[in-house]
Amino acid sequence: MEYVGCEKRDGERRHHRGRSSESLLDKRAILSALAIELGQAVLDAGCGNGYMSKAFSPLVGDRGRVYALDPDETGIAVLREEIKGTNIVAMVGDITTTTHLPASAIDLVYLSTVFHIFSPGQIEGFEAEVKRLLTPSGKLAIVEIVKHATPFGPPLDMRVSPADLKEALRLTPSDTVEVGEYFYMQLFENRQGRGYGLSSIGK
Ligand SMILES: C[S@@+](CC[C@H](N)C(=O)[O-])C[C@H]1O[C@@H](n2cnc3c(N)ncnc32)[C@H](O)[C@@H]1O
Repeated sequence: MEYVGCEKRDGERRHHRGRSSESLLDKRAILSALAIELGQAVLDAGCGNGYMSKAFSPLVGDRGRVYALDPDETGIAVLREEIKGTNIVAMVGDITTTTHLPASAIDLVYLSTVFHIFSPGQIEGFEAEVKRLLTPSGKLAIVEIVKHATPFGPPLDMRVSPADLKEALRLTPSDTVEVGEYFYMQLFENRQGRGYGLSSIGK
């Protein structure tokens, strides 16, 4: 079975070239929950081979944009060739630092099987950059492997549950969706997070 995830955990900055989760995720469930609209700007952060960027592309249409971002220069060069003439922009970049994308311009940040490799410092940088990028009504979607024994995947102590994500990020959590036998997608909204307003009561 294809491995998804990242074992490397030494050092503060973790950039791991993991394999694609394409064959393991329920793409239809993901796209249905994301409810992407024509004209939107979507960022596929840690895009890998860009298969989800390609799935987002027709949904945002000619007036929309999909930004496929990954620190892996080789992978981005390959993807850039594949997506010539489309509405996808392939970029080398690190989502835990300030990217070259303009502020308040992204409707959806999608991060699949990447979060669990982030160090605490990178999680802070990720949250700051997501908040900078999202429009006021924007969303964050994080796909991760479940935090219990599975036939493949990273060690259990590296994995994050939906509760861990909600604890780690000061964004407003919304749905948690099953997106494959071993995967979930946690959605967040870019409104004020817990402890900051009435919207957080009862979450
Ligand atoms: C397990 S792969 C997942 C690829 C793809 N998202 C998928 O679901 O198949 C992890 C990806 O995250 C990228 N990555 C690692 N650190 C990153 C960072 N700080 N910012 C953006 N991408 C990162 C890696 O280069 C790799 O392509």
